[in-house]
Amino acid sequence: MTSKKRTILVTGGAGYIGSHIVSALRSSGGYRIEIVDNFRESRSNVIQDESIVYHEVDIRNKEKLMEVFELTKPDLVFHFAALASVPDSMENPAEYYENNVVGGLNLLECMRVCGVKKIVFSSSASTYGEPLTEEITEEHPQVPTNTYGYTKLIFENMLKDYNRSYGFSSISLRYFCASGCDVSAGIGEYHTPETHAIPSIVETLLGRRKEFSVYGNDFPTPDGTGVRDYIHVMDLAEAHTLAMNKLFEENLMCKQYNLGINKGFSVMELIKSAEEISGKKLSYSIKDRRLGDPSRLIANSDKAQKELGWTPKHLDVKDMIASTYEFFSSKK
Ligand SMILES: NC(=O)c1ccc[n+]([C@@H]2O[C@H](COP(=O)([O-])OP(=O)(O)OC[C@H]3O[C@@H](n4cnc5c(N)ncnc54)[C@H](O)[C@@H]3O)[C@@H](O)[C@H]2O)c1
Repeated sequence: MTSKKRTILVTGGAGYIGSHIVSALRSSGGYRIEIVDNFRESRSNVIQDESIVYHEVDIRNKEKLMEVFELTKPDLVFHFAALASVPDSMENPAEYYENNVVGGLNLLECMRVCGVKKIVFSSSASTYGEPLTEEITEEHPQVPTNTYGYTKLIFENMLKDYNRSYGFSSISLRYFCASGCDVSAGIGEYHTPETHAIPSIVETLLGRRKEFSVYGNDFPTPDGTGVRDYIHVMDLAEAHTLAMNKLFEENLMCKQYNLGINKGFSVMELIKSAEEISGKKLSYSIKDRRLGDPSRLIANSDKAQKELGWTPKHLDVKDMIASTYEFFSSKK
């Protein structure tokens, strides 16, 4: 006798990180995968497979979202759909509150009405703001320096309330800088406009951008440029699978985990590594700091390693740059 496959609903499953999790779920073969995406940011990350169902729906449209829930009756939701650019959020905060907070509330309400109570949420290191300690643990105060980070923190707090009052089980995964690509699956990192350092550097090296901008060289960091903890998207995918399993295996919970490699790399270090990998010289210029950018964000991910049994495999940013370079080189 075969047991019924669980149905997993993935909001934003056609985006950069969501598509990598969809790819991992598909490879495991054990799930029905339903994706909700408005395809605003989904250039070539739409994995074509007859086992995957796509719903072109915007999470701000509660009625349409409810129809998807009634149709699919998911066992668990992965929530990736969001606007996710720090500088953009400082220029267009209303869009971020509408998309990430109002859209997020629509999602939780559809789940509540339909009795779906398990969710893994894409949170962010941006919820911490300027770090008070070298490494950031989950207990670090959450004081975002930008609107994007606020919207992510609001959703985390909503999950705490839905846990207490409605019996939701949730895991918020606070990613540091997601990077790298699954070249073999043909999916990779695209954002419009691209504000992330690694794809921007790679696009410049490939002659698709004139110049790379280094935003700020006067931060209180060893070389003055911003320092970030870069986590490979394949390691993120693994953590999502472990978080999902934990929600299926254990009872009521509301947990938060950092996902990073406990090590920071400066923008100048990225440039040096990318030049080595490509054998090319990068054209770049120094610009003013961007509004809302903290000087450094370095994870302490020990809790995820201990409680989820997660071990990141890519511990050098060169891995993330090399796979991004290979991916972009293969896409003309
Ligand atoms: N990229 C990172 O480094 C990073 C770091 C921390 C957290 N996150 C979070 O991870 C998630 C995924 O990020 P990403 O880098 O893959 O971004 P992405 O833009 O590639 O993916 C987001 C997906 O959601 C969809 N979407 C956005 N708004 C929607 C809406 N209203 N209705 C339906 N679909 C919508 C987009 O079309 C896109 O396919 C986001 O929630 C982001 O905040 C990303």
